[in-house]
Amino acid sequence: MTTIGIIGAGEVGGQLARAAIKCGYEVVIANSRGPESLRALVTELGPKARAETAEKAAEAGDFVIIAVPLKLVNNMPADALAGKIVIDTNNYMPWRDGQYDVVDAGEKTEHELRQEQLPRSKVAKAFTHIQAPRLFLSARPAGTPDRHALSVSSNFPEAVELVTRLYDQFGFDTVDNSPLSESWRSGPGQPAWHAHAHQTREQLVANLNAARRLPR
Ligand SMILES: NC(=O)c1ccc[n+]([C@@H]2O[C@H](COP(=O)([O-])OP(=O)(O)OC[C@H]3O[C@@H](n4cnc5c(N)ncnc54)[C@H](OP(=O)(O)O)[C@@H]3O)[C@@H](O)[C@H]2O)c1
Repeated sequence: MTTIGIIGAGEVGGQLARAAIKCGYEVVIANSRGPESLRALVTELGPKARAETAEKAAEAGDFVIIAVPLKLVNNMPADALAGKIVIDTNNYMPWRDGQYDVVDAGEKTEHELRQEQLPRSKVAKAFTHIQAPRLFLSARPAGTPDRHALSVSSNFPEAVELVTRLYDQFGFDTVDNSPLSESWRSGPGQPAWHAHAHQTREQLVANLNAARRLPR
């Protein structure tokens, strides 16, 4: 039985937990306010889910999903995440997160910053251009014509492989948009981001290629 640690229990964390349990995973989920505050969600998710602190969710996961906006000062449990694949759903939103100069200048992507904050983990950017409620609505079995595709970016092929498997189980094809320095192509405001989950593999490739650096 594979256990997924999920840090962040909001729109994305909650929905990914539902999808993971539907696919047979166990889930250990955390937020910032503590496990007690997640009682209703865990009851809804059923016996394959439990709530913990972020550190314990990171320790429990065979791999871990971070569904928490990036902060300039690391607020994720780096030691507990060491040696693990970490799937990061973060999208940089200056109105919410503040201004990140190196990202605005195009010197680094926000996911390279997450990788720097978690130097002993293998970070993959994934699930960033699908609205959480669409995770079930857009899912289709493998082989369905015009199945929708999602992008993944990572500096680690084994992380891309894991996300590709997870996307397939959740109902999506994959486009590999690695390494993390290329992940801006699927970021907010870009064609791939505006198309959300409504794009086939071919359309997603075209949208990633059509990306242009945006003024911030
Ligand atoms: N919403 C979408 O459809 C969507 C789609 C793709 C990507 N994204 C991106 O994914 C990220 C998460 O989005 P969201 O909509 O799920 O946000 P959200 O609903 O605001 O949830 C954020 C979650 O992160 C938790 N959190 C914050 N700081 C934490 C910490 N230090 N340790 C542990 N947990 C912490 C919050 O816990 P508390 O509530 O206890 O503070 C909350 O459960 C964002 O970067 C967003 O841009 C969102």
